[in-house]
Amino acid sequence: MPGEPAIERSLPGRLNKDGIRIHEREDFAGMAAAGRLAAEILDRIAPHVEPGASTAELDARIQAMIEEAGATSATIGYKGYRHATCISVNHVVCHGIPSEKRLKPGDILNIDVTVIVDGWYGDTSRMYVAGPPARKAERLIDITHDALMAGIEQVQPGNTFGDIGAAIQRFAEAHRCSVVRDFCGHGLGRVFHAPPNVLHYGRWGTGPVLEPGMFFTIEPMINLGRPETKVLEDDWTAVTKDRSLSAQFEHSIGVTETGCEIFTLSPAGLFHPTWKREG
Ligand code: MF3
Ligand code: CO
Ligand code: CO
Repeated sequence: MPGEPAIERSLPGRLNKDGIRIHEREDFAGMAAAGRLAAEILDRIAPHVEPGASTAELDARIQAMIEEAGATSATIGYKGYRHATCISVNHVVCHGIPSEKRLKPGDILNIDVTVIVDGWYGDTSRMYVAGPPARKAERLIDITHDALMAGIEQVQPGNTFGDIGAAIQRFAEAHRCSVVRDFCGHGLGRVFHAPPNVLHYGRWGTGPVLEPGMFFTIEPMINLGRPETKVLEDDWTAVTKDRSLSAQFEHSIGVTETGCEIFTLSPAGLFHPTWKREG
């Protein structure tokens, strides 16, 4: 592929005609181990997400969990990024940088973690709340989760990437929310970000056809207001232009012969909702 990094060319397996890597059956185990660790870490941070906690503290706890597991953070050192997580609060769409700023009651936040286990990347994010959320915030979180799952329902050989985006867009817009266009999901595997771009909007039947052995993320960002975003002076933090609330959920998945395997399912059943189950 023109422009493809040398590491991608040198990997086992093969690229299909769209330049998307088709992994081997035995590669699923590597992705499952990486995905499980990432999901477990997001389970274990849940009790620490509360008013008064700083996002830097949450990040430090997660960095320690990654180290304790003998794994590697994929984000520390990635394009100059220096943290083990992105933590995106309220109107931050994605790539929020952990800071000393403390959570306030009713804040909603996405924590996104990517770990490397035996060379395989596990990338997942989910929503948390600091104390009980406002009704509209809870509704946005529910819609965003269900939009991701509507996208995942499309994943089977023969369907297209356009089907995934169309299902997410139809669901979100039916609930009067908007889909962020400026960021997308991505192929992954032994690399963090690979072809294709997985759009969270689109037209049915368009785009590359899904094949068994494809590994990618689906990670829709859904806004209560308009879809436009802007990136702050720090060159990372993306926020909604209209400052409306934004939510995101992310799974890493692999296409199987009959559907898909979700690598980042929560072992504790906490992917969503994280707060309703705490009694
Ligand atoms: N985990 C993010 C994703 O879903 C990427 C974060 S890159 C970082 O693709 F450098 F901002 F951490
Ligand atoms: Co991702
Ligand atoms: Co991520």
